Amino acid sequence: MSSEPAECSDAVPVIAPGTVRLLVRQARWVARGVVELRLTRPGGGALPSWAPGAHVEMALPSGLRRSYSLCGDPADSEAWTVAVHRVPDGRGGSREIHDTALVGRELEVAGPVNRFPLVPAAGYLLLAGGIGVTPLLPMARELNARGLPWRLVMGARDRSRLAYAAELVALGGDRVLLVPQDEAGLPDLAAELAATPPAHAVYACGPQPMLDAVTALCRAADPPRTPYLERFATAASGPLDQSGLQSGEFEVVLARSGLRMTVPADRSVLEVVREKLPDVPYSCEEGYCGTCETRVTAGLPDHRDTVIDPSERPTATTMMICVSRSDSPVLTLDL
Ligand code: FES
Repeated sequence: MSSEPAECSDAVPVIAPGTVRLLVRQARWVARGVVELRLTRPGGGALPSWAPGAHVEMALPSGLRRSYSLCGDPADSEAWTVAVHRVPDGRGGSREIHDTALVGRELEVAGPVNRFPLVPAAGYLLLAGGIGVTPLLPMARELNARGLPWRLVMGARDRSRLAYAAELVALGGDRVLLVPQDEAGLPDLAAELAATPPAHAVYACGPQPMLDAVTALCRAADPPRTPYLERFATAASGPLDQSGLQSGEFEVVLARSGLRMTVPADRSVLEVVREKLPDVPYSCEEGYCGTCETRVTAGLPDHRDTVIDPSERPTATTMMICVSRSDSPVLTLDL
């Protein structure tokens, strides 16, 4: 996952358990517009262990903090590896990483944290949209090592943007399907899901429309299934629209004061609420830390965070207001 969380350098980082100062030891291109960074302790030595699906939060030289999935090998205890997709019209984190000579510099890196872990299953379908392959690559490696059935489908705009394609094909052979959109269109998610046994777990990481399609297909399946999703922002999304989805407007009512506000398509609930309640707590603005969790007293939240398990969303009485939106015209919050 390469993400573009909102600028929050003044917020307290809550990506416990710890922060380490790491040297950017090496950078290499792994696809068009995607650079891989290898981070180690300046003097060498083991780093905290991690499992596939984990991410870390990097403090960039400018002070921006950005989260990236670890995409290396968990067995490589001396290095953490991330891959960053340059988003020209994003909020600056990926541009800074691409445009700054980082090799040889030290950065503070917090984590790792894992909100996208592999669950026990009879087999796995891994669906990647573009740079969304990053958390899925170590999953594929681990599933391969464990001898479990898996399949990975990766779509990207064209072949040059299929990050880690050679590694994946070397790993999985015909279990890996690469779908360059300019040659083959979008991946046939319906066919992939239909061919996946119900006992297999479905993991997806990519832009919001892809995740929405996976969610809808899983809900409509017989029996319905719950996919495991990891979201990231896209270049097309607005500066505070973490989803990449061009959602419509909706209204938010603050129950304690009765204040009513409009949340436009390109702003988050958090941003709008903070205009009236500047002390409302928040940190990551990416839906993974849980700091902004808010009780919903009326309305239908459209959960887009990774704090609330997908299986619990239908009955959840709270929402992460930094990324989640609304499926109903009005949401009433206990604020
Ligand atoms: S601020 Fe971290 S989940 Fe909302």
